[in-house]
Amino acid sequence: MSIFRDDILDGKTAFITGGGTGICRGIAMRFAGHGANVAITSRKQENLNLAAEEIKEATGKKVLPVAGDVRKPEEVESAVEAAVQEFGGIDILINGAAGNFLAPVAGLSYNGFRTVLEIDLHGSFNVSKACFPHLKASGEKHGNANIICISATIQYTGVPFQAHANAAKAGIDALCRTLANEWGPLGIRCNVVSPGPIAETEGIRRLAPGPDAEKRASSVIPLGRFGRIDEIADACIFLVSEASAYTTGAILVVDGGQWISRTPAGIGAAD
Ligand code: COA
Repeated sequence: MSIFRDDILDGKTAFITGGGTGICRGIAMRFAGHGANVAITSRKQENLNLAAEEIKEATGKKVLPVAGDVRKPEEVESAVEAAVQEFGGIDILINGAAGNFLAPVAGLSYNGFRTVLEIDLHGSFNVSKACFPHLKASGEKHGNANIICISATIQYTGVPFQAHANAAKAGIDALCRTLANEWGPLGIRCNVVSPGPIAETEGIRRLAPGPDAEKRASSVIPLGRFGRIDEIADACIFLVSEASAYTTGAILVVDGGQWISRTPAGIGAAD
């Protein structure tokens, strides 16, 4: 079930990094369900093939699974080229590929820090740059090409054990605003979606492990639960649709109010 019109993305092509699993696979599924052609990319061809099959079966849309490492510009360029060959252009880019793990600064190797920066931040730059000519062509034609960067909220407060991801996501937020400034006049909008804890994702498995993670976290999340992948996908549909035609350079936080929550221990909700 979706609140959006079934055909809201008809005729659009989306290039989705990290689309083989988790949140970005969910975005690809939702976008295809609303009529978009989707190309999904990540490092692991087997994940991509499985996701493509499942999306095709659920939506009837053709999905292009094309392997590539967002850290490697030449692999990014050939993945983008493959998508353009298949679908004739790119109207939407979702920069979703990310890597993370818990590590204190003192225990984080130089390479560990650099690796996460390279996947998240350099990757977003590389793919945005490679998609630019195609997004520009779409912007000129339809006036509504879009980039969405999947960020986070941990960088707002400097959550511990996350120096690498905090730095990367803060960079992504800043990069997105520059893209919005530079490419807005060309009909390309660029916005950020910042998920909080989303159930059934690799992020939760890595960052909030344990069977009762949602129960423990929900007491400090104003909306009282983890989010769902579809809720992130719907935020993305809103941001690429005409409903947000005057929105660029914005950050849409989708976290149930988690990062603003300052519920002191022992104080319960008002009756
Ligand atoms: N704690 C501390 N350091 C870690 C670590 C951990 N849990 N996991 C990896 N690293 C370090 C490695 O030790 C290595 O540094 P070193 O060479 O100094 O030892 C560096 O990070 C790179 O690790 P490597 O496994 O070689 O990189 P990779 O490119 O194969 O994988 C990661 C990238 C590390 C981000 C990997 O976790 C990954 O592929 N993640 C993708 C999925 C994901 O993280 N999803 C969650 C999104 S929230």
